[in-house]
Amino acid sequence: MNALRRHPVITGVVTAVAVGALVVSELVGLAPPITAVLLGLTGVVAYGLHRRLVRGRATRGSGPVVVSLALAAVIVAVGIQLVPFGRAHANGPVTGEPAWADAQTRDLMVRACYDCHSNEVEYPAYASIAPISWAVELHVNDGRGEVNYSTFATDPGAAEDSVEVILDGSMPPAYFTRFGLHPEAKLTDAERDALVAGLRSTPGLSEER
Ligand code: HEC
Repeated sequence: MNALRRHPVITGVVTAVAVGALVVSELVGLAPPITAVLLGLTGVVAYGLHRRLVRGRATRGSGPVVVSLALAAVIVAVGIQLVPFGRAHANGPVTGEPAWADAQTRDLMVRACYDCHSNEVEYPAYASIAPISWAVELHVNDGRGEVNYSTFATDPGAAEDSVEVILDGSMPPAYFTRFGLHPEAKLTDAERDALVAGLRSTPGLSEER
């Protein structure tokens, strides 16, 4: 607490950065609780480092605090790369897709949905970097659990809700295309209409048929 009072500017900046990190992580689909834990961990490591740095020296000035925080951020950022979760990027076999109405319908589905609901997920390079890798793994597990179009023939899951979730705007999730992420998944109005029409003519993807 003393340290906080002694460094009001740093405390303010650190608080602003932490709040900003939480807001951004919510907006791009990185679970805020995970971000909060990482921030907390960084704080604990920084505190430990700071005590070592200033032991037996004058503690005035913000230099040691900034150094401790920066070092802690690097240590945590590197350390979490050792967590294996999210690195496998497993894609199971494609055993039976829907009988797509036409090639365009499949193409639009691949662009907007396959990165979470198929066994043909394309993992960009940054999906190997924690904590992004964790978020991707969680979304793909969750998405496949609802519906996996690659195994539709044997396990349709929630596939009959496909048209509905596109029309109500809940899929693809807003975080997926925010800030210019995954531009190929952001369908124009015309593309969305074409996709809905195609899905309505594909058995099992709307409640109508
Ligand atoms: C970034 C990953 C991601 C993308 C891309 C994505 N989804 Fe999902 N989808 C999820 C997750 C996670 C869930 C489960 C949680 C939820 O419902 O929000 C889900 C749930 C669903 C469900 C079941 C929900 C219900 O109400 O029955 C359907 C159907 C669905 N998605 C279809 C689609 C379609 C169609 C697209 C493409 C237009 C798409 N999704 C794109 C991640 C994704």
